[in-house]
Amino acid sequence: MLQAQNHKVLAFLVPKIEKISFIYYNVFGDIMWKIGNIEIQNQVVLAPMAGISNNAFRTIAKEMGCGLIVAEMVSDKAIYYHNQKTLDMLYMTDFERPLSQQIFGSDVESFTVAAKYINDNMHPDIIDINMGCPVPKVATRAQAGSALLKDPQKVFEIVKAVVNAVDVPVTVKIRSGWDHNSINAVEIAQICEQAGASAITVHGRTRSQGYSGKADWNIIKKVKESVSIPVIGNGDIKSPMDAKRMLEETGCDAIMIGRGALGNPWIIKDTIKYLKDGTLAPQRTKEEKINMIKKHLNYLLKIRPEKVAITEMRTHVAHYLKGLPNTANLKNEIFKTTDIEKFNQLLDDYVSTIESN
Ligand SMILES: Cc1cc2nc3c(=O)[nH]c(=O)nc-3n(C[C@H](O)[C@H](O)[C@H](O)COP(=O)(O)O)c2cc1C
Repeated sequence: MLQAQNHKVLAFLVPKIEKISFIYYNVFGDIMWKIGNIEIQNQVVLAPMAGISNNAFRTIAKEMGCGLIVAEMVSDKAIYYHNQKTLDMLYMTDFERPLSQQIFGSDVESFTVAAKYINDNMHPDIIDINMGCPVPKVATRAQAGSALLKDPQKVFEIVKAVVNAVDVPVTVKIRSGWDHNSINAVEIAQICEQAGASAITVHGRTRSQGYSGKADWNIIKKVKESVSIPVIGNGDIKSPMDAKRMLEETGCDAIMIGRGALGNPWIIKDTIKYLKDGTLAPQRTKEEKINMIKKHLNYLLKIRPEKVAITEMRTHVAHYLKGLPNTANLKNEIFKTTDIEKFNQLLDDYVSTIESN
């Protein structure tokens, strides 16, 4: 049973907003928008992805021109107890700005302490609160992430406390609801706004859907029509055309890309261009893809020990190689090695074999 009573009243007071736009244009005629006082250069946002959206991947996204980058979630409790591994995850650089750091948790006190710690020590431009994570460890065991959607009173308390604790805009990333019987994204978004949130990201799936099925973009539209803070639409953007369609169909202020950027960070650059002039970039060549794998590894090596970086690259390699011919052997060999020279040699051999065929 949802404990919505207190905030149903407040939510009721918020009038239906007819699409407030946060878009404006710079002197070159390019679209800009703002979250609080943070200026964002285009409508493309990189999704927080645990195990993916670290400094290495984010740097690549920024090189692709990404307007706003959201760092993978960190646990409030882990920050609260100064867990070193989690503190290391907070590493960020000025190059990535504007950068948002996401936190997950379920307890007002530890959330506040963690947000303040991150604000004071890392100085991200934005702090984002995770209310979408569906994985059992987070949503069931810790009653965090998407579980918060079941407790609007707590949503209000957490958002308000974090807003009061930090001096940067606070945003919230939500799903459409816990399950199909409790779709409450509009109510939750309004509560977040009342509690002082500066923007909302809506992933158009329920917690019980996980990542399956199709994202419901209509719920993004409904949220956009119900709040007067910027709304970022999220779910199933796999091409620049999808991005344009989401902006048009939902009226959202910006779009967030997650899985579509795995093995294809160029989608960021291509989408920015397509939204600007309607033209599409050509397919990337195998050389470009192989060079990107090498670059990604190099960036990871700056933040990880060699073995860890190479092991972490395996997921990315599988994504980058999708669509390229005769990669089975290359993948097999790459997944076995923890040696950088061998790793790079395998990639070079692959390119020359393909060239000579
Ligand atoms: C590997 C992976 C890790 C994710 N980690 C997070 C996370 O840390 N925080 C979060 O809010 N969402 C996380 N998500 C969800 C994405 O941010 C996004 O909402 C979801 O993938 C839907 O967008 P897409 O269809 O563009 O991928 C993750 C998704 C994936 C695939």
